[in-house]
Amino acid sequence: MTATVDPRLADSAFLRAARGEQPSHTPVWFMRQAGRSLPEYLRVREGIGMLDSCMDADLVTEITLQPVRRYGVDAAIFFSDIVLPLKAVGVDLDIVAGVGPVVASPVRTLDDVAAIPDLTPEHVPFITQAVRQLVAELGGTPLIGFAGAPFTVASYLVEGGPSKDHARTKAMMFGAPEVWAALMEKIAGIASAYLAVQVAAGASAVQLFDSWAGALTPDDYRASVMPYSARVLGEAGALGVPRIHFGVGTSNLLGAMGEAGADVVGVDWRTPLDQAIGQVGDRAVQGNLDPTLVFAPTEVMLERAAAVIRSGRAAKGHIFNLGHGVIPSTDPDQLARLTEFVQGYEPGLSWT
Ligand code: CP3
Repeated sequence: MTATVDPRLADSAFLRAARGEQPSHTPVWFMRQAGRSLPEYLRVREGIGMLDSCMDADLVTEITLQPVRRYGVDAAIFFSDIVLPLKAVGVDLDIVAGVGPVVASPVRTLDDVAAIPDLTPEHVPFITQAVRQLVAELGGTPLIGFAGAPFTVASYLVEGGPSKDHARTKAMMFGAPEVWAALMEKIAGIASAYLAVQVAAGASAVQLFDSWAGALTPDDYRASVMPYSARVLGEAGALGVPRIHFGVGTSNLLGAMGEAGADVVGVDWRTPLDQAIGQVGDRAVQGNLDPTLVFAPTEVMLERAAAVIRSGRAAKGHIFNLGHGVIPSTDPDQLARLTEFVQGYEPGLSWT
């Protein structure tokens, strides 16, 4: 079965902005737009574990579509998790509610790294099926595929679970460079193969999540992390889709994250967008409304959204988003108002 590409996709506001072309309006989507903030998500997830949900193509399709139906956002993000490909190749891990990914046997040695298999499409047939189903349902709305970047995924593997300071991970990076290089190459290969599966099945853009890269100094990022992210972004670029590169607390890394091979640099809410635009040069940006602003009065939220949109007009392209994921207690009606506001904001006004 070969899916035909919807002719409306190429001119969608999201893909035009990602390529640095003038879109019809500022496109908007939200990281974690599918998830616990939606009552319809909580209903379909009842009694089903997170990873089991991610391996059920029909459930993934339904959950991915929920925010698109509700908000009419300009892009869908594939419902999965950054640790799913590790689970698929056989790493013993779980996603514990309210905690995050927990790995049974943390990775510490070269043998531990060698024991992790490379990913092939045969490991993830449910991903191929879900992406195909989604692309058929989404029509002119682009689907964003994603993967976790080597540093952020390594942190879960080395620490064995969530970590505030990533101390063991950075200890490996500083003290066991050969183990570190092997682990980062392994994860880069898995992430590349995982993105290739999603693009082959019809995803029209990809986002590489390096959520915890902000724990690094610029020199350490460039020396020990960026080359592996650059490999993943380079391989994704060869597939012909725009690449978004996102991390949290990265105000001193945005230039390097762009140079790693991104078409769009994702910006968290701590860095003013105009400052970020100065750092990423001739690239589009994505972001960056503080995710807690949805808890402010609507007019305050919208005023701040307008400021983000106006700042974004100085960029090569701007995709509106929150500065990190939707907080689970967010009122979906606020996100509906925000979406409508962004999509209707001075549509005639042109970029620089
Ligand atoms: O954005 C989307 O709507 C797509 C879905 C998505 C999930 N995880 C679903 C999920 C995406 C893009 C991710 C990526 C992810 N996973 C990242 C990078 C993005 C970021 O937030 O910085 C990271 C660091 C992870 C690891 C992870 N998985 C964490 C920290 C958690 C939260 C733990 C918790 O319960 O608070 C998860 C679990 C997870 N991933 C949930 C969802 C919807 C919650 C599980 C549930 O609903 O039961």
